[in-house]
Amino acid sequence: MDADEKRFRAYHAAVAGRPPRATLLRALAAFEAENRVGFAVDLGAGEGRDAIVLLQLGWSVLAIDSDATALARLRARRDLPPGARLVTRHGSFVDVSWPRADLVNASFALPLCPPERFPDLWARLRASLLPGGRFAGQLYGERDGWAGRPGLTTHGRDTARALFAGWTIEMFEEEETDAVTPRGEAKHWHIFHIVARAAA
Ligand SMILES: C[S@@+](CC[C@H](N)C(=O)[O-])C[C@H]1O[C@@H](n2cnc3c(N)ncnc32)[C@H](O)[C@@H]1O
Repeated sequence: MDADEKRFRAYHAAVAGRPPRATLLRALAAFEAENRVGFAVDLGAGEGRDAIVLLQLGWSVLAIDSDATALARLRARRDLPPGARLVTRHGSFVDVSWPRADLVNASFALPLCPPERFPDLWARLRASLLPGGRFAGQLYGERDGWAGRPGLTTHGRDTARALFAGWTIEMFEEEETDAVTPRGEAKHWHIFHIVARAAA
């Protein structure tokens, strides 16, 4: 097990059973208002705190994560609804492709893309959204305590907003706070919480 795997395993143990992210809930409320239930890709799904809600609401979900243990935990969850349309794929979202989707959800995952790979990842993500589809997730700001770590991507506020050019930004909340990580480390967080709708 490498250092990243150890880190994420501890993370998954710490967040087990936590509720879905507010970004996902915001996107789901917007879909509900449109009477739209469809296919979602959950990038960096972990043990499924977001995927489980999508499945419970009747969405088909492709959960992608580089941690096979987290995906096994997701598949074994007792709160999976009967007949859940869940497919898991073990791999890096930097390398794997996915089908076009109504929703691409990426909660606290995209910053874990190496900066030199981010433009390609983002272009593929944008192209994978169906008309009127949504992105929900987080990016880290430049003042995040982990900024500058190898393999971590951060964005300035304007750069982050520019990623959504041509789309409708439905939520863009900037959070900057000193708090602890789920694994108990003190950290300065600088986060953009984002929901955006692709052109119809
Ligand atoms: C901070 S956790 C977030 C998990 C979950 N989305 C949540 O909101 O609690 C980041 C997740 O991304 C996964 N991950 C990290 N780098 C990845 C990559 N390159 N490709 C796929 N998954 C990755 C980790 O294994 C972990 O499950």
